[in-house]
Amino acid sequence: MHTEMTRFKKSFEERLDAAQKEKVRIVIKEQYADAFDVLEDCENAHLIPGIVGPPGVGKTLILRAYAEKTGRDLYWITGDEGVRPSHLIGAFNPSIVLNKGFTLEAFEPGPLLRSMVFGGVFGLNEGNRLSEYVQNSLLDPFEEGSISVQRLGRIKANEGFFPVLTMNPEEMSGAHRLSEALRDRIRVWIRLSYPRKETELEIIKMNSPEYELSDAILEKIYGLVSATRMSTDIETPASIRAGISIARLSAEMTKRQKEKNISHATLSSAATHVLLGALRFRPGIDAEPAVNSLVRTSLGS
Ligand SMILES: Nc1ncnc2c1ncn2[C@@H]1O[C@H](COP(=O)(O)OP(=O)(O)O)[C@@H](O)[C@H]1O
Ligand SMILES: [Mg+2]
Repeated sequence: MHTEMTRFKKSFEERLDAAQKEKVRIVIKEQYADAFDVLEDCENAHLIPGIVGPPGVGKTLILRAYAEKTGRDLYWITGDEGVRPSHLIGAFNPSIVLNKGFTLEAFEPGPLLRSMVFGGVFGLNEGNRLSEYVQNSLLDPFEEGSISVQRLGRIKANEGFFPVLTMNPEEMSGAHRLSEALRDRIRVWIRLSYPRKETELEIIKMNSPEYELSDAILEKIYGLVSATRMSTDIETPASIRAGISIARLSAEMTKRQKEKNISHATLSSAATHVLLGALRFRPGIDAEPAVNSLVRTSLGS
């Protein structure tokens, strides 16, 4: 009998396989090529890098590509005040402890410990948002490549363990500062910003392979997203993701209308749908009229 559970198991295994086969799609040029090289140099020189850049600029992607290129897995965690050391290191499963005691079998390793044991790239996203206590628990792993696991002992990391921190530039100072001690362990800083126009358009095209996007449409999309990055009313501008979403949504809307070319009205509509959620305006600015006026100004009415 095909129970729900056997069906789930089979599909789960297929999905595991699909994840294994998936290749990272990345445009590696300019800042991305530089970042890639510096990551490699840092690893060879045993220095820990931090990648600083606004959301959606490719920080996680470059780590995934770097891990893939060097035949390793990427493990990561995203920092916030709720993260405990056990989320990084792992914890005993109480129900297994009942039978097996505090043994390795009863221990469920977290991403930091797994990357230290297997030798993987460890991405500490927004490490500055971790509480100071948790940031300090990373000093030993980052500095000495070793970690103490409660009741199991101290381990030395596999040679392939490579920690990398990522963070948002606006948080370099302010409430979400990196602790002095952890900052001292990050020896090299890699800056990622919004790419050059041609590169960003190449990224949009790479992420919309099933659609044909004319140069004129791509120009307009770029004009719009770059305008959000210049506006003083906007706290969080459009990321690369937003540009990709506008391109994909407008192309799909056009397909549904059985039109060949993306019309002005369709592009405006798609852009509005995406930007309503993609932008954060300064306090006191009403998002909806601001998005409408931005779209009208940039795309024309
Ligand atoms: N160099 C690049 N090549 C291809 N796609 C990119 C590139 N940089 C960014 N992207 C696109 O932007 C998305 C956001 O990147 P991500 O690494 O998640 O950003 P971050 O971690 O900086 O927030 C990616 O999923 C990808 O679609
Ligand atoms: Mg990320």
